[in-house]
Amino acid sequence: MTSKAIYVQPGGGFDHVTLGTCEPTAPKAGEITVRIRASSLNYHDYAVVSGMWPPPVPRIPMSDGAGEVVAVGEGVNEFAIGDHVVSTFFPSWQEGQPEIDSMGTVPGDGVDGFACQQVTMAAIGFTHAPKGYSHAEAATLTCAGLTAWRALMVDGPLKPGETVLIQGTGGVSVFALQFAKVAGATVIATSSSDEKLARLETLGADHLINYRKHENWGDLVRELTAGRGVDHVIEVGGPATLAQSMIATRIGGHIAVIGILSGMTGTLPLLAVLTRQLRLQGLVVGSRRQQIEMIRAIEATGLRPVIDRHFPLEELVEAFRYQETNRHFGKICLDI
Ligand SMILES: NC(=O)c1ccc[n+]([C@@H]2O[C@H](COP(=O)([O-])OP(=O)(O)OC[C@H]3O[C@@H](n4cnc5c(N)ncnc54)[C@H](OP(=O)(O)O)[C@@H]3O)[C@@H](O)[C@H]2O)c1
Repeated sequence: MTSKAIYVQPGGGFDHVTLGTCEPTAPKAGEITVRIRASSLNYHDYAVVSGMWPPPVPRIPMSDGAGEVVAVGEGVNEFAIGDHVVSTFFPSWQEGQPEIDSMGTVPGDGVDGFACQQVTMAAIGFTHAPKGYSHAEAATLTCAGLTAWRALMVDGPLKPGETVLIQGTGGVSVFALQFAKVAGATVIATSSSDEKLARLETLGADHLINYRKHENWGDLVRELTAGRGVDHVIEVGGPATLAQSMIATRIGGHIAVIGILSGMTGTLPLLAVLTRQLRLQGLVVGSRRQQIEMIRAIEATGLRPVIDRHFPLEELVEAFRYQETNRHFGKICLDI
């Protein structure tokens, strides 16, 4: 079928987003065709569409895609027509250590992504969606869900009884809160908004800090942990938050360096890294194997993503404008 698709033109920018079509091919050996039903917004997609990281050629954006299989190529045994599937961030990173060449094939950036109704791609670029999830819920997992999962469960690795600090109420942080709670951790959560902090409490956050009202929130975190500091930080703020995160972390603790919400460069208090023996672990999402393990845990625990709002595919730019306001809590989804 001819599929509706959104394109970002070279140079990017919201004024260069156009609605068009694409013609998915029949699946060849090893491929599946998927009727995409939902995607979800990430900062990475925002960077591609808004022109921060513009594509060199017309590009269908969006790294996250979920839907149902409508055709299966020869040799594909893992999926059947009608299966609900969700895309992977790195279709060419199946398992093990990250590979440098997997970066060039990220859907919505290096290759076309999921802002379209139908795609034909390698079957190993998808996993089964969690049983009982809507397509929109499944679409939240590819980037934000897996990043939070890997930071805590793989790179941490988090143990029950440990303490986790999350920053703000975006997609990654809310997932991290949820994974930390099902794993038996104590969570200290920060936000710019008291209203959002109240919502974090209903999701299980144990301690709440308004980072606007408490500029030196790192000291407050130390007080809340009887001077010890937290075991893991989900660091999404970047240069504006890293120094406070380091104060908030216990000696030998782990800071998952994930986000750049306040910028891409800054100063690093090296002496503190050294004397406090901190582990700053950069990461970019995760492998297909890690996604499969995350989905197994989701099915075992019944965890459901927090979706703030849905927009139709045609309102992609409006959805990103809404994301820009930072009014959202959790994920913003696209219905396709
Ligand atoms: N490395 C990776 O693999 C990876 C994967 C996914 C995302 N990321 C990065 O992680 C960051 C978060 O992504 P996301 O998708 O969760 O974003 P998002 O959903 O857009 O999160 C935005 C929220 O973050 C909070 N925030 C904004 N500026 C902040 C600051 N200076 N300090 C603390 N909190 C701040 C705000 O929460 P409040 O309103 O509650 O304050 C805001 O609503 C982005 O930089 C993104 O590029 C990295």
